[in-house]
Amino acid sequence: MKISGSFLTIQEDPNKITKLNEVTDYMHFDVMDGKFTENPTLPFEKIIQNTIKVTNPKDIHLMVNDIKKYVDITSSINPDYITFHKEASKNILEDIKYIKDKNIKAGVAINPETDVNEIIDYLKDIDLVLVMSVHPGKGGQKFIDIEDKINKLTDYRNKNDLNYIVEVDGGINDQTINKVKNADLVVVGSFITNHEDFQKQVNKLKS
Ligand code: DX5
Ligand code: ZN
Repeated sequence: MKISGSFLTIQEDPNKITKLNEVTDYMHFDVMDGKFTENPTLPFEKIIQNTIKVTNPKDIHLMVNDIKKYVDITSSINPDYITFHKEASKNILEDIKYIKDKNIKAGVAINPETDVNEIIDYLKDIDLVLVMSVHPGKGGQKFIDIEDKINKLTDYRNKNDLNYIVEVDGGINDQTINKVKNADLVVVGSFITNHEDFQKQVNKLKS
């Protein structure tokens, strides 16, 4: 299991972002338009400036309605993955292709109330499934138990010989991480960034 660091609550602090990069495997870029979610994130040009020292592979989480527009904007930083929300997409296959045509791996995210069956037909076409364990919008929320979805997605992958990775996002701490053991990539924000010693928090997650 790898950790993707979410810097949503420290997005204005380049030094802390660099510190988070040092203790995680991936960096998770939350991008919100203030339409799909209530509040927007900083403009992406500002996020680029604040993450200039990030060296980890980049995992972009688009919480936006206009998916292609934000794929164009965010693809400029050479991300490994760009993930969009099933609930925002008008044509899932078209959006997947739009990302893959830029030589970037494509992911689909589902909100806590969205069933895995709603994306089952697309699993053969994607590289990542992001299972939300909070409602998209802000860091530091309480974990919603989505353990069944993770297990269903990993079982389905193994039975059907598919290749996508399963990522989980929201409310992960040293307790809730035990509920998502089968996930490949775990997004963690405030459990790390609300404390002075980032490495100590990561050690707690790993033990
Ligand atoms: C929520 C975001 C998450 C969030 C994770 O809308 O997508 O990435 O920042 O932060 P924590 O770990 O604080 O829930
Ligand atoms: Zn996220």
